[in-house]
Amino acid sequence: MPQIIVVNQSGEESSLEAAEGRTLMEVIRDAGFDELLALCGGCCSCATCHVHIAPDFMDKLPEMSEDENDLLDSSDHRNEFSRLSCQVPVTAALEGCKITIAQED
Ligand code: FES
Repeated sequence: MPQIIVVNQSGEESSLEAAEGRTLMEVIRDAGFDELLALCGGCCSCATCHVHIAPDFMDKLPEMSEDENDLLDSSDHRNEFSRLSCQVPVTAALEGCKITIAQED
């Protein structure tokens, strides 16, 4: 099971075990990070699961859909490392990846 590092909005880091086959949103939410609101429950319609992925890992993620891209455009905190965590499945390739919860809009 890959270990990921989650950075909360205050900059504190926590190491989490992430089960493959789940999404990053589910792993982070279920670990008790209530900053990750994930209001729509993972159906790519709210953008409250916005995270920033460590630059080195961006090419290990599936491509972004048009819907995800449009939703991220609504965030003032979007940058080139932005993803919606409900759209990112956990895979072994994410071992050691640092994931920062984006500031709330
Ligand atoms: S949980 Fe709503 S878009 Fe990800």
